[in-house]
Amino acid sequence: MKIEKNILLKPYNTFGIDVKAKSFTNFETIEELQEGLSFETNRIILGGGSNILFTKDFDGLVLKNELKGIEVVKETDEHVYVKASAGENWHQFVMHCVENNYAGLENLSLIPGNCGASPMQNIGAYGVEIKDVFHELEALHIDERSVEAFSASACEFGYRESVFKRKYKNKFVILNVTYRLNKIPVFNTSYGAIEQELQNMGVKELSIQAISQAVINIRSSKLPDPKQIGNAGSFFKNPTLPKAELKRLQAIDPSIPFYNVSDTHIKIPAGWLIENLGWKGVRKGDAGCHAKQALVLVNYGNASGKEIFDLSSEILASVKEKFDIDLEREVNII
Ligand code: FAD
Ligand code: EPU
Repeated sequence: MKIEKNILLKPYNTFGIDVKAKSFTNFETIEELQEGLSFETNRIILGGGSNILFTKDFDGLVLKNELKGIEVVKETDEHVYVKASAGENWHQFVMHCVENNYAGLENLSLIPGNCGASPMQNIGAYGVEIKDVFHELEALHIDERSVEAFSASACEFGYRESVFKRKYKNKFVILNVTYRLNKIPVFNTSYGAIEQELQNMGVKELSIQAISQAVINIRSSKLPDPKQIGNAGSFFKNPTLPKAELKRLQAIDPSIPFYNVSDTHIKIPAGWLIENLGWKGVRKGDAGCHAKQALVLVNYGNASGKEIFDLSSEILASVKEKFDIDLEREVNII
């Protein structure tokens, strides 16, 4: 394996932050990964770099995941179990499943990044989360160098959460993920604008292909394309609060939107809170709050990671001041 020195990371993070890594390597096999792990103790595993904000040069080894391969590992009358190596591109994998009529991932079309990162934060969109179709994953225990299998319950999935972001942070490298997909589709069009978009498209007969295209259309209309404007999707999570908080919040602004997530808790769209405070479209230097989606922070070209981070801190403080809500960053800050 080739270890390169002083590598520019701008092409490897969708925020387009111009920082350097002390060392950098790609790994295509577990053996190469093991070799890289032995080379340096300060390291980071990188997939598509679409959920990361580098705030400074990285004084260690970046290990870029290039493990490839997709295979059907099991089939029953109802399900097909598809295993994807961690370095497979997520959207291409979803398209592969949609083309083969393996149902379950269509609502998750066009999410950037790699399959290996999909369980990290239990990626979700348009009413579906990875946990809904997850079967198992295999991961390398970094200290013990053993490969361990994780079931869904072992992953402790939550909203944009898993065990790999919490107690096993930096302890495992995810090698592959197996998804349990449906041969007979269960269509999920309940979220937001999907029904409307299907109508606009003139869809008469529902299919996973049509849902995938509807999701692609909606996402393309409001989320900035990282190839044009640097970003990492939603910068903050939508806050989950006890229902009892609603009265207090409605006294501040009666139009505050919310939805029930359980008998006891509600979720508030953070995009609304941020827009309500006047941040939508605000630009400070090259760091900004996106004009079409206030939950997305953007790099118009030459913003530093610190400038984006500082903007996020100002937004956090203003949400706290007006609504007394502590927003949580979704993006991994390095
Ligand atoms: P990276 O950014 O490379 O890594 C993310 C974290 O996971 C890092 O801490 C990294 O060290 C770690 N990591 C990565 N791979 C591995 C591995 N194999 N083993 C161990 N650790 C690993 N997310 C959603 O959930 N829903 C959305 O709708 C959504 N929309 C987005 C839209 C845009 C335009 C963008 C830019 C991002 C969006 N995201 C969304 C966020 C992002 O795409 C996902 O979080 C994605 O899964 C990140 O994948 P990645 O390969 O780029 O991860
Ligand atoms: N809203 C505003 N102003 C804005 C943006 C949003 O008022 O500028 C309010 C509106 O009330 C809107 C609601 O927020 O109805 C929801 O907005 P949207 O459907 O765009 O979704 P979101 O809550 O902002 C979440 C995820 C996205 C995911 C979409 C679709 C989080 C943190 N974000 O965004 O995931 O794609 O729903 O399911 O949960 C990501 O995680 O990176 C991401 C993009």
